[in-house]
Amino acid sequence: MDAGGEHAPVLLPQVLAALNVRGNGVYLDATFGRGGHAEAILENLVAGGRLVCIDRDPVAVAEARRRFAGDARVSVFLARFSSLASCADRVEPGLKFDGMLFDLGVSSPQLDDARRGFSFMRDGPLDMRMSPAEGPSAADIVNRLPAAELARIFREFGEERHASRIARAIVADRATRPFERTSELAGLISRVTRSHERGKHPATRVFQALRIYVNGELDELEAALEASLARLAPRGRLVVISFHSLEDRIVKRFMRRHATTDPVYAGLPSVPRDAAPKLRLVGRGVTADEMETARNPRARSARLRVAERLTEELAV
Ligand SMILES: C[S@@+](CC[C@H](N)C(=O)[O-])C[C@H]1O[C@@H](n2cnc3c(N)ncnc32)[C@H](O)[C@@H]1O
Repeated sequence: MDAGGEHAPVLLPQVLAALNVRGNGVYLDATFGRGGHAEAILENLVAGGRLVCIDRDPVAVAEARRRFAGDARVSVFLARFSSLASCADRVEPGLKFDGMLFDLGVSSPQLDDARRGFSFMRDGPLDMRMSPAEGPSAADIVNRLPAAELARIFREFGEERHASRIARAIVADRATRPFERTSELAGLISRVTRSHERGKHPATRVFQALRIYVNGELDELEAALEASLARLAPRGRLVVISFHSLEDRIVKRFMRRHATTDPVYAGLPSVPRDAAPKLRLVGRGVTADEMETARNPRARSARLRVAERLTEELAV
């Protein structure tokens, strides 16, 4: 597979400011992709600084290893970001980060490579796995699950209005021949959905839903956010860029929940350490300006949220 391909990092100056990069700090890029953010973080690090890079896609990791070979500041892991604690421990037991970046979703090279099967615009095998050896592919899901379960996936992860109709049509069609190609599924969706949203391919929502389901994206995000708390150094920054409302809702709720005292203790003179806030919200959600969205259409749906780890003294 081609390790090349371009990916323009979104909200780059805002990410660097949010991470508050210090030359000898320790940073995690949990979603290396093509390293646009990683490269910029690294430019700000001196010899004592560290950057840990994670991606679950072997093509992205091969690119990271090639790019940073021989740079003692960088460690690269082929892993899910929910396992960030064990990656950190492999660098140094108990390692904590001054900043962590999650730039969620898929990269442009993943979308652009038809062989990965993410795109309804390019014909390829109906795969959609970020880590091609891991778990069932989109074709396995589409060809095996009952109609009710497919409809639930399209509704829950794609907010697709025609979920049941599309699911029933899939089940009817696959009885004759299983779905193997992205174009076969995209074609069926175009045929069975009558109303078309302007500027949006009718398969957009179903493809998003399948991708989220195949990669367990929302569970991964929840697990990684929980894991981040124990690995952020005092005043360490948690920086997350999400690309749709399902992700953003998880991020917003997580940050808010940990930025407030457990309501059970509201108004009481002392609060147990576990119930005290662990995070401080830094600003509100940030979106890309017109210049960036004109240059990079991916940035249109990006939303950046930032929180800072409180020290225990600050929290109580
Ligand atoms: C939007 S791209 C990141 C782009 C990157 N910031 C850059 O500037 O090139 C998202 C990357 O995160 C990876 N990814 C998504 N979910 C992941 C997970 N749960 N664990 C590890 N990597 C993940 C994808 O494989 C993809 O390469």
